[in-house]
Amino acid sequence: MPDTLKLKTNRGKNLGKILVTSALPYANGDIHIGHLVEYIQTDIYVRFLRLTGKDVIYICASDAHGTPIEINASKRGITPQELVEEFHLRHLEDFSRYDVSFDEFYTTDSPENQYHSETIYSRAKEKGHVSVRDIEQFYCEPCGRFLPDRFIRGACPKCGAADQYGDVCESCGATYRPTEVLDARCAICGAPPTLRTSKHFFFRLIDFNDFLTAWTSEPGRLQQEIRSFVQNWIDQGLQDWDISRDGPYFGFKIPGEQDKYFYVWLDAPIGYIAATEHYCKTRSDSTCEDYWIDPDASVEIHHFIGKDIAYFHTLFWPAMLKAAGYRLPDHIHVHGFLTVDSRKMSKSRGTFITARLFADCLSTWYLRYYYATKLGNSIDDLDLNLEEFVNRTNAELINNITNLVSRTIGFLNKRLESTLGKIPADVQDLIRDVEASVNRVHENYLSLRFNNVTRDILSISDMANNFVQQRAPWTSIKSDPERCRDDLTFVVNCIKILTVLLKPILPSYCKNVEKILGLGDLKWNDTGFDLENRPIGIFEKLLDRLEPGVMEKLIESSRESLTQKHASSTEKSPAFKDEITIEDFAALDLRAGKILSAEDVEGSDKLLKLEVDLGQERRTIFAGIKSSYSPSDLVGSTVAVVCNLKPRKMRFGTSYGMVLAAALQNGKAILCRINNDVPPGAPIK
Ligand code: MSP
Ligand code: ZN
Repeated sequence: MPDTLKLKTNRGKNLGKILVTSALPYANGDIHIGHLVEYIQTDIYVRFLRLTGKDVIYICASDAHGTPIEINASKRGITPQELVEEFHLRHLEDFSRYDVSFDEFYTTDSPENQYHSETIYSRAKEKGHVSVRDIEQFYCEPCGRFLPDRFIRGACPKCGAADQYGDVCESCGATYRPTEVLDARCAICGAPPTLRTSKHFFFRLIDFNDFLTAWTSEPGRLQQEIRSFVQNWIDQGLQDWDISRDGPYFGFKIPGEQDKYFYVWLDAPIGYIAATEHYCKTRSDSTCEDYWIDPDASVEIHHFIGKDIAYFHTLFWPAMLKAAGYRLPDHIHVHGFLTVDSRKMSKSRGTFITARLFADCLSTWYLRYYYATKLGNSIDDLDLNLEEFVNRTNAELINNITNLVSRTIGFLNKRLESTLGKIPADVQDLIRDVEASVNRVHENYLSLRFNNVTRDILSISDMANNFVQQRAPWTSIKSDPERCRDDLTFVVNCIKILTVLLKPILPSYCKNVEKILGLGDLKWNDTGFDLENRPIGIFEKLLDRLEPGVMEKLIESSRESLTQKHASSTEKSPAFKDEITIEDFAALDLRAGKILSAEDVEGSDKLLKLEVDLGQERRTIFAGIKSSYSPSDLVGSTVAVVCNLKPRKMRFGTSYGMVLAAALQNGKAILCRINNDVPPGAPIK
């Protein structure tokens, strides 16, 4: 995209474009019912806007870069691109089963994203917002990489709990620097890390202090609770943000640097822009500039995110956009986290339910409806209470709404030739109530209070059910069939209206109701009482009630599928060998050996030549670990050595013994290191 603004034309530059995004899911695992809170919330909002005739696009993408994706791919022996592609497709499948209606689901590993990332970075740099300095960081010699905080494990420096992350203790909640962790280890291979220095690039957030203070406090930009968090962060002093990582890294190279990459969180939000560009190029007559650059275009940008990523979206992101002269988002809507029966989702309890598993067991409509009843415009966590989920679904969605449709349409089908009459004159008060509800629902959709939306929809359905009860069509059909028809005509109008109101929440369910009513695609304008003297369609089953015990079954399958996954990943290591006696084992002369020197072997791409100190003597050993270690990683390490192995003549010389290493599935080897306090030659028993 050229840097200059395009000529202004009226093509596509119509007023009031709205761009809505959800956070970009990591392409590193299946999405779960926690993620779905966000995608369902955003989708409801977008569908509401479409229903009211707005020019809205819903943009999302796979978040493809970063260390975890690179490491997982290498564990599975595939490229990061292959891993990303796999989850990209799985996510698309999942989203479509939940009726999440993206206009674009792209990827951050794209040329468009590289272009915008480089542009934003260079502009920030030109303006002096990027500084460079050396930092010291944990480095794992065997893995040959710097270790991000999450890849350090060790004991918590505050409470001593073992096996905690390098930045936060899950036991006592303390946060700390990875260098404070006791007995720090590499989370990938278990080796103790060393400290290394490397040049890093920093985005100077402090340069935007005044801008961010003003921008985040503009009315309507952020929810009140988030605004006070942000104010607090600003008051504590904005820190430089490290936007670079050393290789090996899956991401975009920093232009003009050697083996430096943009940190995934730099290019991830820029993925919103790249995905918009891809959408515009392939499916629209608007341009990416209209949405993200042109100051005269009438555009509103809304981001939906979870509260864990609010810092990135309320501080780093607007500052980057500001630095590079792009449009800033108008609203950032933050939601809380999903809990199940008031507790954090957990694999061992079986409450870590994937979107896929839920959809395999139950209709996804239930979840969309339930989440809607729970979503206010708040950052508080929301709870999936399993008992309430069943009760609420049955009481509201089945007994109230679905039952109203089935009894009314069923009666008209059987007794009144499926034909409507006219709305009776004595329902004016009820009509006024419904009209008031419709207005409230409009307001509540706009302000993201879907819990209130469902309440109003239910009140209309309640009223209509009571009306049927009072007018007793099963009696009036005998005395005054036309009166009966008119009464039910009023009820059918109520059904039509509540279908319109429910469409953003339950699009597929409502599509079926539209068919039953013999109507096409209803829009927001169809909320009037205007269906009279016309035929309707035939009732067809809409949705089953939930049987007692379904949720317990779901949890059980979830627990099973998680333990199965675990079993199959260990299954891949080779089968155990036949048993031996203790005497057989004692025949092995295993000792600690200290590596004195290590060098490449000319002509071999597998071997390293080691000189090993075994206490009473030194030996030359050839080890097939070249793909896993460079010679400098090894010197000074103490390792386990088999000393009484018959010397082996090789093309490059004779090997007098063998060093032990764990053989990984990806062909890498990890040496069996021994604490350096163990003197060379000490037997291992
Ligand atoms: N890749 C980043 C987002 C980059 S946006 C430029 C990320 N991905 S994520 O897959 O971990 O999360 C995607 C969204 O789901 C985030 O907004 C996150 O807050 C939300 N949720 C993840 N787990 C959640 C719950 N348990 N409950 C509610 N929302 C949750 O973060
Ligand atoms: Zn390691």
